[in-house]
Amino acid sequence: MRKILVTGGTGYIGSHTVVELYNAGYTPVIIDNLSNSNIQILNQIEKIIGIKPEFHEFDLCDESKVIDFVQKNPDITGIIHFAASKAVGESVEKPLKYYHNNFFSLINLLNAYQGKKINFVFSSSCTVYGEPDTLPVTESAPVKKATSPYGNTKQIAEEILEETANAYDNYNIIALRYFNPVGAHASACIGELPIGVPQNLLPFITQTAIGKREKLTVFGNDYDTPDGSCVRDFIHVVDLAKAHVAAIKLLEKGNPNGNYDIFNVGTGNGYSVLEAIAAFEKSSGQKLNYVVGPRREGDIIKVWGDVTKSANQLGWKAELGIDEMMASAWAWEKYLKENPIG
Ligand code: WQD
Repeated sequence: MRKILVTGGTGYIGSHTVVELYNAGYTPVIIDNLSNSNIQILNQIEKIIGIKPEFHEFDLCDESKVIDFVQKNPDITGIIHFAASKAVGESVEKPLKYYHNNFFSLINLLNAYQGKKINFVFSSSCTVYGEPDTLPVTESAPVKKATSPYGNTKQIAEEILEETANAYDNYNIIALRYFNPVGAHASACIGELPIGVPQNLLPFITQTAIGKREKLTVFGNDYDTPDGSCVRDFIHVVDLAKAHVAAIKLLEKGNPNGNYDIFNVGTGNGYSVLEAIAAFEKSSGQKLNYVVGPRREGDIIKVWGDVTKSANQLGWKAELGIDEMMASAWAWEKYLKENPIG
């Protein structure tokens, strides 16, 4: 079976992608240093697919370990690279941690595959668009100056990948620009596992609903949007995982657009923060305790994706709606209450 390396494969999006790769007939191989995830996720994946995926625990910033792994695993045909630090707020406090971790890991991987044919899917983000001039935002929209070191690492990583693809003929690369991943696998065996206080909206909503947090603060309702709260393109993590499988398949088939390409991975629909809260309350039957507080520094007011290119050229489209996103996120939070992980 075609072996696909999934770096960061015990993480939120990584673990869901491991499941969808296996379902699509691939053999996923995980590298993770467990700095932002938990090894128990391997057992949780096994509950879904019936086998425990091959797992290697080491830091991709350790160049000698990456070289050694690549030499010992010549049958890997593709890589899906998730492993990176990803907390916007933390990146502002610790920029050097983000530049070191996110660039050294990427460059070590690329260097280790010099001269070897490799299909490479990169986890990028809509954060590269900043506040788009027009909505929905397309892949040809200008990349704007990042508002955080985290966002900057995504922008620069895309440049590194494009220039690498242009300079060498052995790398076939797709960057997927995610919008806002939410929800969990239908089995409720895997889902988002924030360490400490959640930075993102959905885990904060579900932890408030289950009683782990006293209340949610909505960061501002005085924006120029229909209800005053920010607007986002929330996408179910299982749909997002399937987009990675579609990208690997396109690279295996040969991407007519060339050896570097970008795709938006969203639903194409924008929901406000208050609409997301209402959707959660409807699908969970839980009243949410929230207050409106001050705006959060650096927040984009509204962003949602034009996903035409992904439908027409990647052959992928999101299928799950906001209700399933909220219901699955809530089921996962209830599962965690009975079965704590980490
Ligand atoms: C969404 C909306 C908040 C928490 C970032 C990165 C993106 C990706 C996801 C990593 C905003 C509001 C949030 C809360 C709130 N990164 N909010 N109260 O900022 O859109 O995207 O995280 O995977 O690349 O840019 O996501 O979930 O933090 O915020 O009101 O307690 O929810 O103000 O409007 P964001 P988010």
